[in-house]
Amino acid sequence: MTKSNEVLIFDTTLRDGEQSPGATMTHDEKLEIAEMLDDMGVDIVEAGFPIASEGDFQAVSEIAKLAKSATICGLSRANYKDIDRCWEAVKHAKSPRIHTFIGTSPLHRAIPNLNMDEMAERIHDTVTHARNLCDNVQWSPMDATRTEWDYLCRVVEIAIKAGATTINIPDTVGYTAPVESADLIRNLIATVPGADEVVFATHCHNDLGMATANSLAAVEGGARQIECTINGLGERAGNTALEEVVMALKVRGDIMPFTTKIDTRKIMNISRRVATVSGFAVQFNKAIVGKNAFAHESGIHQDGMLKNRETFEVMRPEDVGLAGTSLPLGKHSGRAALRAKLNELGFDLADNQLNDVFVRFKDLADRKKEVFDDDLMALVTQNDTEDDRLKLKSLRVVCGTDGPQTADMVMEVDGTDVETSATGDGPVDATFNAVKAIFDHGARLQLYQVSAVTEGTDAQATVSVRMEEDGRIATGQSADTDTVVASAKAYINALNRLLVRREQSEPGYDVKGVSYKDA
Ligand code: KIV
Ligand code: ZN
Repeated sequence: MTKSNEVLIFDTTLRDGEQSPGATMTHDEKLEIAEMLDDMGVDIVEAGFPIASEGDFQAVSEIAKLAKSATICGLSRANYKDIDRCWEAVKHAKSPRIHTFIGTSPLHRAIPNLNMDEMAERIHDTVTHARNLCDNVQWSPMDATRTEWDYLCRVVEIAIKAGATTINIPDTVGYTAPVESADLIRNLIATVPGADEVVFATHCHNDLGMATANSLAAVEGGARQIECTINGLGERAGNTALEEVVMALKVRGDIMPFTTKIDTRKIMNISRRVATVSGFAVQFNKAIVGKNAFAHESGIHQDGMLKNRETFEVMRPEDVGLAGTSLPLGKHSGRAALRAKLNELGFDLADNQLNDVFVRFKDLADRKKEVFDDDLMALVTQNDTEDDRLKLKSLRVVCGTDGPQTADMVMEVDGTDVETSATGDGPVDATFNAVKAIFDHGARLQLYQVSAVTEGTDAQATVSVRMEEDGRIATGQSADTDTVVASAKAYINALNRLLVRREQSEPGYDVKGVSYKDA
């Protein structure tokens, strides 16, 4: 196969990203993110792990049915039951892909207790099985970067002979470094028979902060598919960030002459949406999508920027979908101005959604003199819905230096207003105690995070709350000029999401004792 200069972008936000503890998304959120990925030009969307739960299966099936141009991929372990379930979910896509994997390093071989020959046989059988179902099969030797190179060559050859069309080389624990990452792919392509007939992919984790560099080095070595997630979402230190590799290739085409199909102007919008639905805020100084990535505060920088933007910027904010600075809205701004501003920010809302946001905007503009772009984005990305079982109706908190603080709350529970008063060690504690008094639950608070959306004492606070109950995790978010009200709404939002999850959840599939040939 002649090597083209096009690098395929394989996004795994909905699988590897969502697998990150606390980042679980609802069904509708997954569909929305998949549509945005498809729309921005992602080549392959890994939509989930169909055997993991009924919810995952349904999400992958629906994404497969709705996809317009992206290939839709599902993950499966190296057993027939996983692969069959995966195929059942992805087969609806115009372009389906089965991705099957097994850990090939010494540490990972020890888990199913297979010796090298037994594992090689399993790889042959399972890839053949997958290929009999689907023309497009990706195979991954998990922990490839800690697998003996000669064994890796042997199993890659087996997978290619069995019909794999993409060979993905995962750096599962973020252990490799750029030189090694390039050498590994180069060596595989040079030595494995049949390597020219398949696409090599790179899948890096960021444990040592080298995921982007390792992915780009793998491309230098001959990989033509990068696996990545929006905002680098993923377990531990995360995965390669899509926005980083795509922008690096775009900006440094002079030394890395590779292209992608990504419409980079859609980056900011999807980054914000993923941050909201996953509850994983983007760090301020994150490359490309961080709040400060294009901010120039120091006098010397501002002076340089005014004279020539290129003094301190290697790319234009517009290229990643950041609107140029424009005037804030205020309480006299009408619906048309709001719609125009939201369009400029990349949101194309249906009329009923716009009405909803307009009501919230008017409410905010009454309390805040100027409504900035970030305020609007915080309003648009709130994820409470009409169907929520719990809704905050009113909250009054009494604070003082000699506490305890008291929260008087009215909350609607399944359509009925319930009132209570609770005390606590501080206003937020009192508020959370009031919620618990009205709606008793066993969920544990895992994270409580507050950040200011804009500057000033009238700034909105965005609050993220992560809750855990029986292994299920949900994150709630809200924004308000009153930090305690935002906290109450975020807490209630997390509880609503946990309730949905509890209703949807199915016992996970247990692989122990199941033969990989069991259909
Ligand atoms: O990191 C990893 O090894 C993975 C595989 C399942 C591809 O995510
Ligand atoms: Zn991974």
